[in-house]
Amino acid sequence: MRTHYCGQVTAADIGNTVELCGWNHRRRDHGGVIFIDLRDREGLVQVVIDPDTPDAFRTAEDVRAEFVLKITGKVRARPAGTENANQRTGMIEVLAQAVEILNPSATPPFQIDDDNLSENIRLQYRYLDLRREPMQRNLKLRYRVSKIMRDYLDAHGFLEVETPMLTRSTPEGARDYLVPSRVHDGMFYALPQSPQLFKQLLMVAGFDRYFQITKCFRDEDLRADRQPEFTQVDLETSFLGEEDIMGIVEGMIRDMMMKAQGIELPAQFPRMSYAEAMSRYGSDKPDLRVTLEIVDLADCMKDVAFKVFSGPANDPKGRVAALRVPGGAALTRSEIDAYTEFVKIYGAKGLAYIKVNDVTQLNETGLQSPIVKNLSEAALKTVIERTGATNGDLIFFGADKSRIVTDALGALRLKIGHDKGHLDGRAWAPLWVVDFPMFEFDEEANRWVALHHPFTAPKDGHEDRLATDPGACLSKAYDMVLNGWEVGGGSVRIHRQDVQDKVFAALGIGEEERREKFGFLLDALQFGAPPHGGLAFGLDRLVTLMSGAESIRDVIAFPKTQRASCLMTNAPNVVDEKQLRELHIRLRNPAASDKTA
Ligand code: AMO
Ligand code: AMP
Repeated sequence: MRTHYCGQVTAADIGNTVELCGWNHRRRDHGGVIFIDLRDREGLVQVVIDPDTPDAFRTAEDVRAEFVLKITGKVRARPAGTENANQRTGMIEVLAQAVEILNPSATPPFQIDDDNLSENIRLQYRYLDLRREPMQRNLKLRYRVSKIMRDYLDAHGFLEVETPMLTRSTPEGARDYLVPSRVHDGMFYALPQSPQLFKQLLMVAGFDRYFQITKCFRDEDLRADRQPEFTQVDLETSFLGEEDIMGIVEGMIRDMMMKAQGIELPAQFPRMSYAEAMSRYGSDKPDLRVTLEIVDLADCMKDVAFKVFSGPANDPKGRVAALRVPGGAALTRSEIDAYTEFVKIYGAKGLAYIKVNDVTQLNETGLQSPIVKNLSEAALKTVIERTGATNGDLIFFGADKSRIVTDALGALRLKIGHDKGHLDGRAWAPLWVVDFPMFEFDEEANRWVALHHPFTAPKDGHEDRLATDPGACLSKAYDMVLNGWEVGGGSVRIHRQDVQDKVFAALGIGEEERREKFGFLLDALQFGAPPHGGLAFGLDRLVTLMSGAESIRDVIAFPKTQRASCLMTNAPNVVDEKQLRELHIRLRNPAASDKTA
């Protein structure tokens, strides 16, 4: 039906007749001449309809917003002074010979180029929202990113293999989405939280290098960087150690960022241990662009009069730490109050601070703060030394259970860093976080849980600690972090039954539960499982970062809201009684489901 995309007509076409199809983005009547900006996925082109072509003119008069048109016309240079340098086709226009309305449109609920739409209306009319240029750009970028990664993996000998969507629960730690079985009364499939177990089985099966770009499903609390269904670039390899695996995937990300957007990442991503990340940045996914750092102070606060500090300083599970804000003495009372409120989200009970007026006077004159009188001079000296504070700075303090202090100061570091511009100026800060602990103690459940998943291998030489000191046992897991987002994570797996048994024992997973949950994997591992390991990237997150979008929803064609619903299809929805009966399901509270729908 057409010779060109609207957005691809160029000065080289001047003098030629073109046929274009697209949507009426905007129509303007200019005293006798009608202008139509015709839009398709490649962009806009200006069409001029002159009364000298009366049929075309009459048709153009009827054209309204978002009508679908076919235009035949001659490309010409725009008259001098009317060019638009901001538009790709801004030097030319098309003088219409014929205008055909292929389909009228109902009046759209919003103008397509309106940048101030509420997200709800955008999600309700997603097919119109997706007509907007930024959304078209995001989805094109998404396609390019996955295509480049697919090509890279193909070139490195990876085979794409599909794994089931209707399966058993996988141990990724979130709640499952369940699918009731009609055939098996009372039984359920789980949608995969990741292809983890299947990709390990593909290694047992000898495929050597597997990848898949696939959907994963997790029923967890949603945030700006989480969706209930999201896409992983998932891979697994045999006979490679962690260095090789990290090298391959780091190469993939570097190649992809360069080819997709000309972004140059450092030749080798820095590595940081989990312990260092938590200690200096209060996060296992530190944003290294923020220049502020946390310093530990428990050792010098053990004997101070201020109980808020000395308590946690003497508690093995406590932490006392500080965050220096250069120039922070200029913070107003209300700013400090707002930060104090902010850290409460993370469980902090307060946010002590010292304004540094004169570092040479370790008293209430030099250091302005209600807590100074309760700290010894020796402690204050250490605070100044360790934080590197100078006159005009402010030092914030956290003292509590370690987890709370780490989370609170980690979040505060990011917030102040971005609020006050404590940034190093880099656009991209990738790193690997390594040396994760195997286990984390779950206070509520009063037991050890796997930090990654139970098939992650312990670090060489740490196997003995599985039984004696699980908390000190590090793993062969690695996360790739980009600008403070965890974009990928993986590990070398356990391929030996005796090691796997020790891990299950440390996790308190008994024989019966092992068989019940992972029996098929454990069986398979006995039939000559090769040493193997892999990783999965969050495609949505990578593309969100690259596109500069604020939310992961902006790089997904049809996303869900924070409440896990789709405003366009109205999923989830009530189903009819017959469907429920076939699935052997009776609702406990039918009225409730009516209401939420
Ligand atoms: P993990 O659970 O770390 O590892 O997931 C891998 C990557 O997937 C992304 N991701 C998400 N993205 C959007 N919404 C979500 N709800 C969400 N959850 C995770 C993150 C994360 O880094 N099987 C292991 C991988 C392995 O060991 O090989 C796994 O799934 O970017
Ligand atoms: P208070 O002695 O409770 O008046 O607290 C004195 C200062 O310590 C105030 O600035 C509080 O915000 C701060 N503070 C209280 N509890 C903590 C805590 N757990 N960690 C850090 N600062 C705290």
